[in-house]
Amino acid sequence: MRSGRAVDLLDCFTVTGAPFYITTPIYYVNADPHIGHAYTTIMADIIARHHRQRGDDVFFLTGTDEHGAKIAQSAERASRAPKDHADALSQRFRDLGGVLNSTHDFFIRTTDPEHEAAVARIVAGLHDSGDVYRDSYGGWYCTACEAFYNEGDLADGRRCPIHTTPVDWLEEENWFFRLSAYRDRLLAHYDAHPDWVLPAARRNEARRMIEAGLDDLSISRAQIAWGVPVPWDPEQTIYVWIDALLNYRTALDYARPGEDLVARYWPPSLQIMAKDILKFHAVIWPAMLLAAGLELPERLMIHGYLLKGGEKMSKTLGNVVDPFPFIERYGIDALRYYLAREVRFGEDGTFTAEGFEQRYAGELANELGNLLNRTVNMIGRYRDGVVPADRGADGALAAEVAATVDAVRAAHEALDISRAMDEAWALVRRINRLAEERAPWALAKDPERAGELDQALFSLAEGLRIAALLVWSVIPGSAERLLSALGQDPAAVALDDARWGAGRAEARTAPIPPLFPRVEPEEAEA
Ligand code: MSP
Repeated sequence: MRSGRAVDLLDCFTVTGAPFYITTPIYYVNADPHIGHAYTTIMADIIARHHRQRGDDVFFLTGTDEHGAKIAQSAERASRAPKDHADALSQRFRDLGGVLNSTHDFFIRTTDPEHEAAVARIVAGLHDSGDVYRDSYGGWYCTACEAFYNEGDLADGRRCPIHTTPVDWLEEENWFFRLSAYRDRLLAHYDAHPDWVLPAARRNEARRMIEAGLDDLSISRAQIAWGVPVPWDPEQTIYVWIDALLNYRTALDYARPGEDLVARYWPPSLQIMAKDILKFHAVIWPAMLLAAGLELPERLMIHGYLLKGGEKMSKTLGNVVDPFPFIERYGIDALRYYLAREVRFGEDGTFTAEGFEQRYAGELANELGNLLNRTVNMIGRYRDGVVPADRGADGALAAEVAATVDAVRAAHEALDISRAMDEAWALVRRINRLAEERAPWALAKDPERAGELDQALFSLAEGLRIAALLVWSVIPGSAERLLSALGQDPAAVALDDARWGAGRAEARTAPIPPLFPRVEPEEAEA
């Protein structure tokens, strides 16, 4: 078994395509996961699954960030040793990955001994090549960000611009990375690869930070014992962000012992995160990679914030939504669907329980769930549960469906996951209209129209089968149940099969309970 992998179902794909290495940020283990973390992992999983459906050779990495002052302090508050605290909370994030139905191939922890050793090795390399020097430094520090701020960037009353909590003055002798020396090379990279950071507004923001000039970066801490010791100065520990960023590279050393994943997957094809950590990923990370002589990631996708009450959902702000109860009540696919549809990928979006319930009842339960049940019931009633053969009379519809499949592929290529879902859902609505237009219940009353009835039932089932393949990356469990109900192989979800007539012929349907059963709203809010 592959270590740390959430599911092995996907091994059934024929992998013929290009390597595709995708990452999420590694999450801090200072508190329980919330829906904001779930959002990033779900979006990454949707993209990873889509690439698997295309036959690409996917490696999907997620995990937890466990060192530094933020974690040490939260362990202290919980009266636990840092490692015990990290063990407990890392497990919560791992559990979240499980309930999200995330298909990550490896879950890295920065307390993994292999990671720690690799971080020490890489940082020692930067020191040896002259990119690291010793200096003293004083600045305003936000522990929640694990970052220094310039006076001018602070919010009123010397507060962190992100967390609005007071910042601390920190002054010590540290080791510094010559970030300033990489300004021109970074700008050259931005110019040569205009869309390596998406959306464009974030790219411009990051480019402006570089243009404005970069300060060298303190990469060690004298007073934080909870971290990886600086190899040539064990009195200090490596700054948690340096330790954390390197996870994307170190994981490939040991995720699958005996396999050279670096040769196979480096550099990352796509790294996903929210805009809070843009500077770390779009400025510091590429400079570190240049310094270490490693290739830069192909693309960073910076998404927006999930807001609650108009503010970024965050533990520090105290406005978080716990994903576990929602998932328990509505099922994981409802949450995946809601987030993928409600939040335009790249923009901020608001989470509301009412919006969630509306989409659940109106779109999932009614437009998709009822359509499936009606289709399966009619095939049962009029054709003894066997999907009639295609009579070839729906060429125009088949062409429409093919255009939708192309549109979904194109939207994914543009990383417009929300549009991909809109396109796929247009097919669900098209099939609903088809049911009304053809009215199989009326055709069934006239034996002379048996051929038309056959065609209508085939087209409903076939449209639904293809819709299932298009929504599979977002609502995998439901799409698989849908395929089973239609008598199709639930593992046959390759995008190449999203062609009219490519399914199992004359399949035997199997009625199933509603895909999205009714949930009483008051029950859900309890
Ligand atoms: N540990 C660092 C990341 C190191 S990566 C080398 C960190 N951790 S975090 O726990 O704070 O996670 C931040 C990330 O979680 C965000 O970039 C985003 O991906 C996700 N989100 C956390 N809250 C979120 C929202 N309210 N909305 C959207 N994404 C959210 O930063």
